[in-house]
Amino acid sequence: MVSGGGTNLQAIIDAIADGRIKGAKIVRVISNKSDAYALKRAESAGIEGVVVSRKDHPDASHFNKALLEALDGCKPDLVVLAGFLVVLSRDIIERYRGRIINIHPSLIPSFCGEGFYGLKVHEEALKRGVKVTGATVHFVDEGCDTGPIILQKAVPVEEGDTPEILQRRVMEQAEWKILPEAIDMIANSKELFRN
Ligand code: GRF
Repeated sequence: MVSGGGTNLQAIIDAIADGRIKGAKIVRVISNKSDAYALKRAESAGIEGVVVSRKDHPDASHFNKALLEALDGCKPDLVVLAGFLVVLSRDIIERYRGRIINIHPSLIPSFCGEGFYGLKVHEEALKRGVKVTGATVHFVDEGCDTGPIILQKAVPVEEGDTPEILQRRVMEQAEWKILPEAIDMIANSKELFRN
C-alpha cells in the first residue's frame, strides 16, 4: 500500500527481481492517491495498481470498506505499508493481524507516533540533535508505530544535514535495505510469520 513516490516499493520490486527476496511476489499495489508515482512504478513492473481514494467515498467508513475490499480482492499473505499515509481501520488490522508490516523512518521508539511522518520525523531528529537515527520495520497493530519490531538499521546524522539530506540518507542506507530484508525473512521463516 502506497501514497507517494514509491521508492520503497521500487526497492521491493528490485529485490524480488535480483533474488534478495525469495518466494514472494507483489500481487497488487493499492494507492490512496491517484497521482502517486508509485503507481507508475507498479505499471512498469507489470503489477496491478488499484486506487482507493478518500475523495471517491462519502465518509471514512465507506473508504475503509473499499480499502478492505481492495485488499481482500488480491488475497495477500502479507500487507506491506510502503509509505502509506492512511491510518488503517480496526477491521483491516483485525482481518490481517500479524500480517501487516510498515516502514518508519526513525529508530522506534524515537520520533514516532501521531504526526511523525515524512520530513517531520527528520526535522525533529535534527532539532533534538541526535547523532544516530535510522529506520524500523515493524508489525502493525492498533496503535501508531507501536507494533512488534522486526528490523532496525542505524544511520549517522552528519554535520550540516538538512531534513531532506537526512531523509535521503535514511532511505538509501536503511529503508530500501531493511524493508526487502524483512519481507524475505517473513516469506521464508516460519517463526516470524505464523498463519
Ligand atoms: C518513507 O520515508 C517511509 O519511511 C515513510 O514514507 C516514505 C515513503 O517514501 N513511511 P516512498 O513513497 O517509498 O518513496
